[in-house]
Amino acid sequence: MTGKLRFERPELAAQMAASVSGRHKWNSDADGLFLAAPRRTGKSTFLKGDLRPALEAMGAEVIYLDFWMNLQLDPAEMLYAEISRALLGNAGFVARMAERAKLTKVQIGAGGSSLAFDPAQIGKTPGSSLMAALRELGEATGRPIALILDEAQHLTVSPRGEDVLKELKAARDTLNQPDDIRLMLVMSGSDRDKLSRLTNSKAAAFYGSKVKLLPLLDGYYVGWLSGLLAQSNPKLGSLNIGVLSDAFDILGRRPKVLDDAIGGALNPVTQGGLTFEASVLDHAQAIVRAEHVRYADCFAARTSTQKAVLTVLMESGDAFSPYGATTLKAIGDLIGKKTTTTSVQGALEALRRLDPPMVWKSNRGEYGLDDLGMVDWYQQAKARGEWRGIG
Ligand SMILES: Nc1ncnc2c1ncn2[C@@H]1O[C@H](COP(=O)(O)OP(=O)(O)O)[C@@H](O)[C@H]1O
Ligand SMILES: [Mg+2]
Repeated sequence: MTGKLRFERPELAAQMAASVSGRHKWNSDADGLFLAAPRRTGKSTFLKGDLRPALEAMGAEVIYLDFWMNLQLDPAEMLYAEISRALLGNAGFVARMAERAKLTKVQIGAGGSSLAFDPAQIGKTPGSSLMAALRELGEATGRPIALILDEAQHLTVSPRGEDVLKELKAARDTLNQPDDIRLMLVMSGSDRDKLSRLTNSKAAAFYGSKVKLLPLLDGYYVGWLSGLLAQSNPKLGSLNIGVLSDAFDILGRRPKVLDDAIGGALNPVTQGGLTFEASVLDHAQAIVRAEHVRYADCFAARTSTQKAVLTVLMESGDAFSPYGATTLKAIGDLIGKKTTTTSVQGALEALRRLDPPMVWKSNRGEYGLDDLGMVDWYQQAKARGEWRGIG
């Protein structure tokens, strides 16, 4: 994606960079910035394209990692690898290592000293913790470190990830002073409930922090996009931004999906005699209908216990406790017979094993829907009186 084809959000990024670096006494996010927004609404684009440069402009050394890019890899492993890459790519660090290696040789006679730090060992041996690595990187670069962890909720699915979160918190508490922030943490997620597992229970690593919503792209984005459209398609004349904004809203403000609707409307074969804007809206509605049909098909293919579990999940969101009496009763009511913990567990596991999975589970046994789009499908069907239950 070239700069010209990306809508930039420099003010928002500068504001966040300032708050995460502790420059504000109030509104400070120096304890960690937790940002949630639905899938495909532009989080990664913003974090990489706007926030990263804003942090760099402030003098920070930025490490960005997207845990969604490779779900097969252990997220803890990915983080260790990225930090050791940053260390090894830093001339200052390499020079310090060489310096220490020399020292070690000199001191061999006295016995005792060893090479203090080996990036390959981060996370593997107790002496080379994440904290030590981050401190090294900070000292070698002479800059504060900003760690942007995209889709950070994946850290909560493995025991090692949980350890990493605790280490990050400890590193933050050790390295930072109120007026000297050396480690900035930004974590994003597609699902507010999942991200808040990092912050909302006493056992959570970042207990006490609040998850904020990353503002979705808005009318300014649609205005900017209309400018591009008018430029490349002068025949369209002046565009009705209000109608295009409605289409963007219907699509959950996902830029790429709006592009698809626009693409459909630009195609004379599918424009269907409507004005361009009305045709974009029409395509947007068709796209959402098709997405909902996919959800309906996925749902219909499940067993009745699985359907009941999904229904209770869609209904209860964050409040879902898999084996609580209320849940068991709700599921039992839906399938028309008493159910057991074992049966619910089996259903949850089967839903997790699907490809793509329909259910997500944290290391601490908390469950959620994998794709929150399903909740919209469910709520809209209910609102229209078209929800057919699990039958
Ligand atoms: N500011 C923007 N300007 C133009 N296109 C954008 C912008 N933000 C996101 N997009 C497009 O929307 C799609 C989804 O964005 P992405 O950042 O991957 O979303 P997320 O990380 O929230 O899932 C990408 O194809 C991206 O090119
Ligand atoms: Mg992303």
